[in-house]
Amino acid sequence: MTYRIAVIPGDGIGPEVTTEGLKVLKTIEELDPSLSFSFESFPWGCEYYTENGKMMDDDGIEKLKDFDAIYLGAVGFPGVPDHISLWDLLLKIRKGFDQYVNLRPIKLLNGSSTPLKDDPKLRNIDMLVVRENSEGEYAGAGDWLFKGKPEEVVLQTGVFSRKGTERIIRHAFEIAKESGKSLTSISKGNALNYSMVFWDEVFEEVSQDYPEVTTYSYLVDAAAMFFVTDPGRFEIVVTSNLFGDIVTDLGAGLAGGLGLAAGANINPERNYPSMFEPVHGSAPDIAGKGIANPLAAVWSVSQILDHFGHEDWGARVLEAIETVLTEKKANTPDLGGDASTSAVGTELCRVLEEKF
Ligand code: NAI
Ligand code: MG
Repeated sequence: MTYRIAVIPGDGIGPEVTTEGLKVLKTIEELDPSLSFSFESFPWGCEYYTENGKMMDDDGIEKLKDFDAIYLGAVGFPGVPDHISLWDLLLKIRKGFDQYVNLRPIKLLNGSSTPLKDDPKLRNIDMLVVRENSEGEYAGAGDWLFKGKPEEVVLQTGVFSRKGTERIIRHAFEIAKESGKSLTSISKGNALNYSMVFWDEVFEEVSQDYPEVTTYSYLVDAAAMFFVTDPGRFEIVVTSNLFGDIVTDLGAGLAGGLGLAAGANINPERNYPSMFEPVHGSAPDIAGKGIANPLAAVWSVSQILDHFGHEDWGARVLEAIETVLTEKKANTPDLGGDASTSAVGTELCRVLEEKF
């Protein structure tokens, strides 16, 4: 079976890091005759916007809809407002394909360092954040009244539908049940007296269907503290769009930095392709220098393999990343090394060939 992957390298370091991810997939294809991938690349992003006045083709969603997965680098470039690159490409795909689950693993890999002090308890960082990805605080609802006048008022409305809240919480419970791990809900019911009281109620309701799952509930501010003082207490975490955005960057900081953080945008029903991307942006400050860390983009490849049901290869890719981090023969400058982006990719492929 050939898996069809749409590749959107995007801007800045996006093309640099996805090239290495594809290198890894091509190596796996050679090592495992039962697996094959085909790639089609789309030139969309900010450069495309400067030339064509749009981030992607008008029928972009139509073009992508029959792929098995979308592999995205990063979009964003100085000169193109960030809300355009976000809303006209990333969110168009996330919403168009109902990718309402954002899966972000926060795991301190062997060989990776954490800014937390060298206490074994603080190296126990292995969680999966299940972030609501379709509504909440990022629904785009609100109003801007009396613009520029002294009485100016801006409203940014959080949208929490029963359907949207229930499905993300249920999905997280399913993951917790399957993996035998605990589930922590992060909310803020004391201050957000509509949305988060509702969230807590739905969490409580759905939990009735999963008596075997141990649950915890934290206020987001307390959770932020415990991420730093006792990360081991979190296993599977479910939270809203905004809180998930913030705590996963905190988590990324704890577990080796943006160069090591991956995120998957999943349509669990598989009616549409899911999208896999490093969490980091286009990093204009280092773009074109060949020094971007490709490990986050390669971790996304591991998530693609998991999504295709080849968890064996997904795990091997993570193992290869750990080997590269531990042996330190090819690490990029953000990890204290002097290797180039492509040298890291080549080393990953060598490790895969040697081990498997
Ligand atoms: P950024 O993630 O691009 O960069 C933040 C810092 O981390 C920079 O110093 C950068 O050099 C470093 N960094 C990021 N990824 C790295 C990697 N793989 N290896 C080594 N160092 C790395 O975030 P920033 O600067 O806030 O945004 C830059 C542009 O990217 C903006 O236009 C923003 O809108 C866009 N962006 C796009 C995202 C996406 O496509 N999903 C996500 C976040 C930002
Ligand atoms: Mg973010």
